[in-house]
Amino acid sequence: MKINKFKLERYFAIYEFSAKYLLSPSDCESLTMKELIDNADADSLRMWQNLKLGYTESMGHPVLREEIARLYHSIEESNVITAVPEEAIFITMHALLEKDDHVIIIDPVYQSLKEIPASIGCSITHWRMEEKDNQWHLDLDLLENSINAGTKMLIINFPHNPTGYLPTLEQFNRIIEIARRHDIYIFSDEMYWLLEHGEDMRLPSAVDCYEKAISLFGLSKTFSLPGLRVGWIVTRVEELLCNLSTLKDYTTICGSAPSEILAIMALRQKEAILEANKERIRGNLEAARAFFARHDRLFTWLEPRGGSTAFIKLKPGISVVELCKRIVEEKSIMIVPGEIFDYEGNYFRVGLGRDNFKDILNELEEYVAKL
Ligand SMILES: Cc1ncc(COP(=O)(O)O)c(C=O)c1O
Repeated sequence: MKINKFKLERYFAIYEFSAKYLLSPSDCESLTMKELIDNADADSLRMWQNLKLGYTESMGHPVLREEIARLYHSIEESNVITAVPEEAIFITMHALLEKDDHVIIIDPVYQSLKEIPASIGCSITHWRMEEKDNQWHLDLDLLENSINAGTKMLIINFPHNPTGYLPTLEQFNRIIEIARRHDIYIFSDEMYWLLEHGEDMRLPSAVDCYEKAISLFGLSKTFSLPGLRVGWIVTRVEELLCNLSTLKDYTTICGSAPSEILAIMALRQKEAILEANKERIRGNLEAARAFFARHDRLFTWLEPRGGSTAFIKLKPGISVVELCKRIVEEKSIMIVPGEIFDYEGNYFRVGLGRDNFKDILNELEEYVAKL
């Protein structure tokens, strides 16, 4: 298989553990083992203490699948397969797509969502997000006009990484209606689900709205547990689940036994974990709005509606790639430029889910004022 380098992951590989500060991570502050265990229920603690470190069930631990199914309305345990989130993207694209299939993908996008279909030989239409009135927008007519007889799949990601874009329920329903009318699959990457910036903004999972939807979710972002490497696909497309487990035999075969039990613990602490992350994001959003307003001669703040990232515009005159390079070299602060998402224009990502976000802005204040 020929596949391009994953630019974002290669960028993180250079700086994630060498730069002193990260301004652009997409995950929320990680939980410690102690925090997770201290708040665990008696049943999952018992499972943890008696855990045998053997191979696990290919579709995922039955109790974990049961807990996952509870997040949805139309899903039973049998509609769930667990996988590392990135692996879930890989095996789903390989299970459903073939050379020359046409796929429509929102743009910018987490690279594997477009790179894997491209490596399979699909033809791709990039459904480009645009900024207008200090917010991000998707044109639904553009989606409708991009569909042709060979269109097999639409790939969406709401709340969106990196822009924080989230459609309204009405817009989301229209996307589903368009897909249904043309009988195309929706691959809905919902890795930032439940992190909407207002309760009334939350969308249902695509899997609960559409019979040909495949929804991806996991513990890496919303649940502050990227190190567990636990994610899942839920779908009502029965034959796909079977194909996914067959493909998984060539990736991880099954999940990690300790991670599965820790994942059960986390799902049972959902409300507390979510509340802490929403509080973090609320505080960081306030600080970000104030910081970028103070420096509005340089930046245009583009308000995110959900998730733990924002995609901000650096005004013309300075190259964002150049600026990110200078800042990491001189201040040891890593910032991801939009070019890493193959998105033209002078944008960069900030991550709103970490505890040291405000400290990093303080570190940057003087530097930015002198630009
Ligand atoms: C939109 C999106 N999907 C999938 C993933 C993959 O998640 P993981 O790194 O936990 O495999 C990420 C990670 O950043 C992401 O942002």
